[in-house]
Amino acid sequence: MIKTKYAVVDENHIDETIIREAGRIIREGGLVAFPTETVYGLGGDALQRESSKRIYAAKGRPYDNPLIVHICRWEDIGKISIAIPAAAEELAKRFWPGPLTMILQKSDAVPPETTGGLSTVAVRMPENKIALALIRAAGGYIAAPSANISGKPSPTIAEHVREDLDGKIEMILDGGPVGIGLESTIIDLTEGKPTILRPGYITKEMLEEALGTEVGVDRALLDENSGQAPKAPGMKYRHYAPNGELTIVSGEPDAVTAAICRLSRERIQAGEKVGIICTDETRGFYEADCIASMGARADEDSIARHLYAVLRQFDALHITYIYSEAFSDKGVGQAIMNRLLKAAGHHILKVS
Ligand code: TXA
Ligand code: MG
Repeated sequence: MIKTKYAVVDENHIDETIIREAGRIIREGGLVAFPTETVYGLGGDALQRESSKRIYAAKGRPYDNPLIVHICRWEDIGKISIAIPAAAEELAKRFWPGPLTMILQKSDAVPPETTGGLSTVAVRMPENKIALALIRAAGGYIAAPSANISGKPSPTIAEHVREDLDGKIEMILDGGPVGIGLESTIIDLTEGKPTILRPGYITKEMLEEALGTEVGVDRALLDENSGQAPKAPGMKYRHYAPNGELTIVSGEPDAVTAAICRLSRERIQAGEKVGIICTDETRGFYEADCIASMGARADEDSIARHLYAVLRQFDALHITYIYSEAFSDKGVGQAIMNRLLKAAGHHILKVS
């Protein structure tokens, strides 16, 4: 057990003493969890193999699942990648700092431990000012997966990080709740056609508009039965899984509400603890042990921001069955439904 230090940092008045200390911990091979605009990250020095090994150990993460390298200045990309296509520069101009990760050819400066043995590297410049200050203080290159135990929902507040990693890492920087709540969009730029490997806040339409070309989506994401392994190794694991059995119910709104009411009543009568994921428009129809409204149905940002915290809350309440309304899969909805389907192990009930 390590004694994990805990420090509150205000993004608008950053305490440089704390950042210096956190940066030193990372330079000396230690681990610091920090806020980004997407989810909290678990940071170690991306260029030290021992740091990456410690990240995998702390998370219980499979070694073939590579880490994202976070930078704070565009110029720094040249050290970790040997080939920077024009598309990378275009996308960086448009979306960095921000919730976009690009896959590029890696340089020898990046140890194979950081990239799960791959010859490519994932790079992102986050927007959160605490993250940017920390990257600078740590020497410029922080490897950071989401700061959760592997298989749990990604952390959107520092308390989630503490639940999962207290005693396993040197420090947690608490910068308050994150703004977006879902992990960054990942785009692969190492092959002919730019391809989305993980949907996120930056949508396919936004990427196509910025590049002026068509952007593909990894086939394995579109069709679970394609028999093809996802190109982002992390996407093959059953992530974000709550302990309770989660079913997504989709169809006409009235039929969905009626089905969820019936299913939850049956489970409650059988002595189970039931949780429901719904929206402000429907919450009044339900009865269950925990009813979690994600906000207004049309407010995708609110749904994204609340999803992971709600899944964790169900675990804390020992909920055994969860029913979720399906959400639109347009725009950010693509990322929301991608995560929700993974959390449900693709268990979806269609009603009419
Ligand atoms: O928003 C985010 O991206 C957050 C914050 C902390 O920045 N990080 C994050 O990291 O979500 P993680 O480790 O939870 O997810 C990284 C994903 C995994 O699915 C991994 O397989 C994929 O990125 N990945 C990393 N390097 C890759 C590479 N070279 N080729 C393909 N996929 C890669
Ligand atoms: Mg993760």
